[in-house]
Parts: sequence; structure tokens; C-alpha cells
Amino acid sequence: MPHKPFKAVIPAAGLGTRFLPATKAMPKEMLPVVDKPAIQYVVEEATGAGIDDVLIIIGRNKNNIANHFDSMPELEAKLREKGDSDKLAKVEHSSDLADVHMVRQGEPKGLGHAVLRARSHVGDHPFAVLLGDDLIDERDPLLTKMMEEYDKRNATVIALMEVDPEHIHLYGVAAVEPTEEDGVVKVTQLVEKPKAEDAPSNLAIIGRYVLGPDVFGILEHTEPGKGGEIQLTDALEELANGGGDGGGVYGVIFRGRRYDTGDRVDYIKAIVQLAADRDDLGPALRPWFKEFAAGL
Ligand code: G1P
Repeated sequence: MPHKPFKAVIPAAGLGTRFLPATKAMPKEMLPVVDKPAIQYVVEEATGAGIDDVLIIIGRNKNNIANHFDSMPELEAKLREKGDSDKLAKVEHSSDLADVHMVRQGEPKGLGHAVLRARSHVGDHPFAVLLGDDLIDERDPLLTKMMEEYDKRNATVIALMEVDPEHIHLYGVAAVEPTEEDGVVKVTQLVEKPKAEDAPSNLAIIGRYVLGPDVFGILEHTEPGKGGEIQLTDALEELANGGGDGGGVYGVIFRGRRYDTGDRVDYIKAIVQLAADRDDLGPALRPWFKEFAAGL
């Protein structure tokens, strides 16, 4: 277990326009993935890696996120009365998970701006940033490995994954050099959402970062970049080129199971995959999937 007192920061202030009208009055992070809101998987990933202090950066319509991680005395009393201990445990679990804090982003000025909003809560400590559009399977721990690398190298650590060239324009992309360790690379350059022909590699940043407090000083002067937004990738590019404390940026290459919930097709795929794998739902679903697919 890493020894630094890491906190987790989860930016959740996006508008979620790809899921309208579902996200008209509800944040996209609350969309259910099987039977849990997407953001609960992310908080569980952080607590599973030993982090118990979680800061969620919220935008408009985000009160439901706060409510989800709070206790619900009336509902709990009703379930207790009925003797429904399974459901009671599920309700209590989300409020017992972690010490969850919220801060508002105000205007959505980009991921870099959202991360900068964490400064006073995080203070002078390293912290993990987890983006809710990427769900990492709990059977393939990634964050623990990243925090170990941070401790070992005293450097920023990001998660990278190989993606197909036709999808590379959706990601921050890294140019890398090998290190002494298989699966860990030194990052020499980062570009936010390049065209396929300009991408320095096929290694995309997936939404997991372990950062030191030196990133805040850089984010303060990071100019708006791609899409007119303050990009975390641009601040990391500066860190990779000797900025901040000078430790540089390393990448942990992830080869495990990742579910993208950022657009509708991927979101549906994530639900199908996760449900089919579950002991309570899989046995009923798997034969039906086969029958359904045969009829397509
Ligand atoms: C963000 C980051 C991008 C990263 C991606 C991972 O983009 O800006 O560098 O590759 O998350 O999901 P977004 O998907 O929020 O547009």
C-alpha cells in the first residue's frame, strides 16, 4: 500500500449533452450502469485503492450526487421496518464508502480548471484524479500501481492505453520512451486530441492521473487550449518538459478491462458487459443475449 496520504479528485461538472434529454435535470455521472450510478464505481475504485478522502468537482444540477453519497434516514427507516436488509445495505454502502466532499466549478472552463478547483482541499499533498467516463474493472487494479510509481519516482503518473487510430482524436496522446520497467514509460510529449496523422503514438491518456501539488502552480498560468478550454493535458506537457518540481511524467500502460461510458454506444456496451459478468444477472442474461444476437 502506498505510504503517501493520497486524496482523490473526481471532476463531474460536464454538461453531459451526449445523453440529453436524460441529463437535462440529472448529471451524467448519476446515469445507472446496471444498478449503480457511474460515479459510484469511480468512488469505489478510489476506496479500493486505499483512498478515503474524495473530492467531487460539481457543476449545475449536481445536488443528486451529494444526496447519493449522503445518508437517507427516511428510506433507511422504511427498509429497516420491512426487514429488507439487502437493500438497506446497498443504501447505506454509498454513504459509508468514503469521506466525500464537494466543490463547485462555477463555469465549465475545462478539465484543467476543474482540477485547479481542488487546490485548497488537496493542499500540499499528492492526489489522484479519476474521470467518470472511464470505468476500470475492479479485477484489474490500476490506481494502486500508479500510486506506487508516484512514490517510487516522485513524479507525475498517468494511465495510458493503446487505442485504434480512428479513435485517437478523442484523447490526450503521449510520446514515450521505455524505462527499466515493463509497462512503465517515460512521457516526453503530450498532445490534447490530435488528428490521427499528427498523433505522436497510439497511447491515449485514459482518465486516471496521480499528480503532485506542483501541478496547481502550472494550471494557474495554463492558457486555454483545445476547444478554448484549460486542458489538464497542456499542464502535464509542461511537467513532462521540466516544469513544476522537475520530476517529469511517467505512464503506466493499462492492458486490463476498461469501460467507456462517455457516449451512448459505449455506455450500452458497458452495461451489457458488466451485467453479463455478474452472478446475480449473468445467468439470466447470457442465454438471452445469444438468442438476440442470432436474430440480428
Ligand atoms: C479528457 C482529457 C483527455 C483524456 C480523456 C480520457 O477528455 O482531456 O486528455 O484522454 O479525458 O477519457 P474528455 O473525454 O473529457 O473530452
